[in-house]
Amino acid sequence: MNKNTNEWVWWKHGVIYEIFPKSFYDSNADGTGDIQGIILKLDYLSSLGIDAIWLTPIYESPMFDFGYDVSNYREIDPVFGTLNDFKTLLVEANKRNIRIIMDMVLNHTSHLHSWFLESKSSLDNPKRDWYIWKEGVKNKPPNNWLSSWGGSAWEKDETTGYYYFHSCMKEQPDLNWRNKEVIEAVFDEVRYWLDLGVDGFRLDVINWIIKDKHLRNNPSYSRLLNIQRHLFDRNRKGAHRIARKFRLLLDEYEDRMAVGEVFSFPPGNPKLSASYLGKGDELNLAFDFSLMYRTWSASSFYKCIKKWYKLVADKGWPSIVLSSHDYPRSIGRYAVLNKTDRFKRAKVAAFLQLTLKGTPFIYYGEEIGMTNVFMKPSEISDPLGKKFWPIYKGRQPARAPMQWTSEKNGGFTSAADTWMKMNADYKKINVESQLPNDKSLLNLYKDLIEIRKNTPALYSGEFEAVKKGKSGVLAYYRLHYYSDNVFVALNFTSTIKTISVKNTDNWKVLLSTHRNKEEITTINELKLAPYEASVFIKI
Ligand code: NOJ
Repeated sequence: MNKNTNEWVWWKHGVIYEIFPKSFYDSNADGTGDIQGIILKLDYLSSLGIDAIWLTPIYESPMFDFGYDVSNYREIDPVFGTLNDFKTLLVEANKRNIRIIMDMVLNHTSHLHSWFLESKSSLDNPKRDWYIWKEGVKNKPPNNWLSSWGGSAWEKDETTGYYYFHSCMKEQPDLNWRNKEVIEAVFDEVRYWLDLGVDGFRLDVINWIIKDKHLRNNPSYSRLLNIQRHLFDRNRKGAHRIARKFRLLLDEYEDRMAVGEVFSFPPGNPKLSASYLGKGDELNLAFDFSLMYRTWSASSFYKCIKKWYKLVADKGWPSIVLSSHDYPRSIGRYAVLNKTDRFKRAKVAAFLQLTLKGTPFIYYGEEIGMTNVFMKPSEISDPLGKKFWPIYKGRQPARAPMQWTSEKNGGFTSAADTWMKMNADYKKINVESQLPNDKSLLNLYKDLIEIRKNTPALYSGEFEAVKKGKSGVLAYYRLHYYSDNVFVALNFTSTIKTISVKNTDNWKVLLSTHRNKEEITTINELKLAPYEASVFIKI
């Protein structure tokens, strides 16, 4: 293992695993996942080989938006346990060389946060300016800004008769990051977690944090369809100033990191994402959603990767994200109609994610091929799903409880009921059944993570494309300046493909869906089986 060499930087070279805590593992039989549940599954995570966990919010919250509405940044919500549980998690994770990344929601708080309650109480409250308040115009909102949840982004508060701004739900008022006291107060909350030993943060919608000073109207597209170009309420330059300040704060501590959720609609905006890396003085990593927004196509994946790498070059380091708690499970996206090939494609996707240059973020359950749950409107609690059903079913179908075993409720809980519907496929798709099977997706993830960790070219080498996806094949070198180079070939199609690589050297199979490990071969004229994914190392 090269983990201890000087070159190893955990957030660059390691593998990060996203957990949606309500759905990971329930330790106290109430049907909801919790921190103790995560602790009980740390050995599983350690055997998977991941280096860090990113937890979606676990702070005290009235849960209008699954914890993305924080009412107290210093407390753990009782749904998940206690602060002591969290401290135990830190200790137990660190024992296993696993770091903890928390979700930090900077853009907004809950409407029940004491800051907001004070702010709304009167026009001259000292915290009045901590949020964005404005008088209406003829009993209408101050401007035309639309919330991402639909409708006006302004809500009238009867206490003072003013409107407050909310990018998301009305229960999530936006903080005013132009106010210096806000910066100090929120940074104090961040310090609190850093002092406790948290290793990093995922920053929620960081690109929305600053709004136009004059609250100018956005160019209006369609209010009916809730579509608008968010020129004045998102992606403002000032957000970079905050990102730089955040980085300075992080750098007061050793070895910490921040990854920004730089939100953009499909097809993604890698330029915007890369801009949050600054000149190496903003965030350590940023999410680019382009890969997540792609359908199954080798060439379109390639185009995204090429663009992303070019934009990130010199500024920082790429992240590689194929799925998250906000987007449908990848296995369904990659094989919408072609259900028979689902697992084959999931394997190729796993090879892609874990052999590319950049920090992979794996969403829990992807390693066993969990699928979206079919939900009736009455079963949905996601406010977005409720609001836009049936046009959009919301994000909950991708947030179902982890499928551990084939027992009742997938071994997720011993309670009679789970907080949300289990996916009925848990009897077939679960950790327990995949563990003993050498050919399972789970064991493939383990093997991929292991070779990645042990191969400098894979965790830190340069990327050089050989086949750019035109015939359904993606092939590339990962080149390392002192260690052995690696060659990766991925056949995205259900037919045999032969590629000519123009390389007469001998290579050894490191890992493959179709070839035996250690087999020595040339790659000059390489015949790939349908959906073959193979990694070779130069000998
Ligand atoms: C992005 C988060 O990923 C999403 O789940 C949340 O609803 C919004 N930000 C608002 O905080």
